[in-house]
Amino acid sequence: MKVTVVGAGNVGATCADVLAQREIANEIVLLDIKEGFAEGKALDIWETSPINLYDSRTIGSTNDYSKTANSDVVVITSGLPRKPGMSRDDLIATNAGIVKMVTENVVKHSPNAKIICVSNPLDVMTYCTYLNAKIDRSKVFGMAGVLDTARYRAFLATELNVSPKDIQAVLMGGHGDTMVPLPRYTTVGGIPVTELIAEDKLNEIIERTKFGGGEIVKLLGTSAWYAPGAAAAQMVEAVIRDQKRVFPVCALLDGEYGMKNIFLGVPVVLGKDGIERIIELDLNDDEKALLAESAEAVKNVMNVLDNMNVNA
Ligand code: LAC
Repeated sequence: MKVTVVGAGNVGATCADVLAQREIANEIVLLDIKEGFAEGKALDIWETSPINLYDSRTIGSTNDYSKTANSDVVVITSGLPRKPGMSRDDLIATNAGIVKMVTENVVKHSPNAKIICVSNPLDVMTYCTYLNAKIDRSKVFGMAGVLDTARYRAFLATELNVSPKDIQAVLMGGHGDTMVPLPRYTTVGGIPVTELIAEDKLNEIIERTKFGGGEIVKLLGTSAWYAPGAAAAQMVEAVIRDQKRVFPVCALLDGEYGMKNIFLGVPVVLGKDGIERIIELDLNDDEKALLAESAEAVKNVMNVLDNMNVNA
């Protein structure tokens, strides 16, 4: 199986490293526009193979998409990351132009690939990828929910002093400050989280999760990469190995949750065909209101993209 990761920055290189180390694909192409950059990162990753004992090959390419031909899955991480004080939406104009160009090249060489967008602002860049890929909605989706739930689960694991492996959670909505972690669908070894944690503490964790990306930007002066890279790799694995994993994924809705023509984080089944099913939860009124608020925030930025006419 062949996987291409476009963008050899921190997130892309981390994703390629996880894909190689865990032998998720036997051929990994890392592509970047900066001369020699992807080749350097790919070579460094390949040189870990005798130490980490795997045989997945990672190669690099400076903007030569013919090397990516016939990829089964493509991860797009291209674009500028956030600087302190910037919201994800501030990146829209620059990153939309980059994502459009990348997507056209990707689809030209790998028309059957499943495409996972990781660029920010996530929901809108996934929409931008979809507009330019011109392929079925089941094959174009965004990585956000896996990362956001990972943060939520990690914070809960710290607070409860339990293994993060035993924490399961659903989180919906956009990859922004309006994301909707769902305590009613959060369990610890099968036990509803609300039985183990006080309401105010849980609310604090939910708030921290919503601003989890910003917390890292503040600490590092740039955005996160270990967790985003690993989250994207986990989605690639679900597709490559046809695992039918249930993940929150940024997907184009066509009537689900009563919404159409919007990319939003919802629980889906991920397998060899990409999004094989969108799971519709029976949300209560409060949850529906939070999801509607998040959808409105995403739709506003989708409209900004539409008005920029970069996808004509
Ligand atoms: C984050 C950025 C990558 O959430 O969106 O860390």
